[in-house]
Amino acid sequence: MKYQSKSSEICTLQKKVITKIIKMKITVVGAGAVGATCADNIMRKELCEDLVLLDIKEGFAEGKALDMTQTASLLGFDTKVTGSTNDYSKTAGSHVAVITSGIPRKPGMTREELIGINAGIVKNVTENLLKYSPDCIVVVISNPMDTMTYLALTSSGLPKHRIIGMGGILDSSRFKTYLQQAIGCSQHDLQATVIGGHGDTTMIPLTRLATYQGVPVTSVLTDETAAKVAADTMVGGATLTAMLGTSAWYAPGAAGAALVESIVRDEKRVYPCCVKLDGEYGQNDICLGVPVVIGKNGWEKIIELDLNEEEKALFNKSADAVRSMNSVLATLSL
Ligand code: LAC
Repeated sequence: MKYQSKSSEICTLQKKVITKIIKMKITVVGAGAVGATCADNIMRKELCEDLVLLDIKEGFAEGKALDMTQTASLLGFDTKVTGSTNDYSKTAGSHVAVITSGIPRKPGMTREELIGINAGIVKNVTENLLKYSPDCIVVVISNPMDTMTYLALTSSGLPKHRIIGMGGILDSSRFKTYLQQAIGCSQHDLQATVIGGHGDTTMIPLTRLATYQGVPVTSVLTDETAAKVAADTMVGGATLTAMLGTSAWYAPGAAGAALVESIVRDEKRVYPCCVKLDGEYGQNDICLGVPVVIGKNGWEKIIELDLNEEEKALFNKSADAVRSMNSVLATLSL
């Protein structure tokens, strides 16, 4: 027994030396399914020393934080998780804040139909976060995500590199899932990107540029199968909403945490994210999904893909749809 307890002490010691917890603070606003799953992934990966989960519902975030904390000895992490009922002072000094607040979509609803309710919430949350963490990088997941990212940027006046909308990473992981099923391969061997808006009709799975270990997927799949993969990807969220009765959470939460990981570890990963475009891809005054380098400063660089005429036309159409959604913001009393 003595030997066993010594060896477990050594294991704990080794783990502490190896993991080197990141001395940062991260806040996730909204303790619903997406927010809590995102926080859970952040905690398991030990992406910070302090993690705050905040929600407006009395005691809800505290309950989730306590439940998550009770997995520490089982999963082996040291991130401290704190819950807060709408007390933003607890989020003070956050390096990264993830906004998931707002209502999720129900079966048959588009993400765009949520704008009236979610715009006021996202604006208010952004203001409160920045009051206590003026230097933080803001990740927006709330829907309609492209418009919510634009709202967070324009209402806060934050430098554009510090506001990142999470949609394209999730859509690309759905794209890879459908490709995996069609090809019968490992998702790790796929490179596949979705750009444009995070909407059923606005996202653009870039099938022409997707590869399976360097081989174009278009040479592995028939045109018909490739078209079905792209179509399934576009309605990936709606398919899950119909099955679950509410919006999905495992992949959205994991995608949010992957984005946060690249920021706090300064990984410089290239992910498709919703960012402010100033002439890139021929667009201005809009936040839209394009591949960007993600590091400690937020999004650091836009990668300009060599789109063909058809892809460019789809991108412009997507921008038109998102811009028209953004124009609804002016009609709301925010
Ligand atoms: C989805 C939500 C998070 O696509 O937009 O599942």
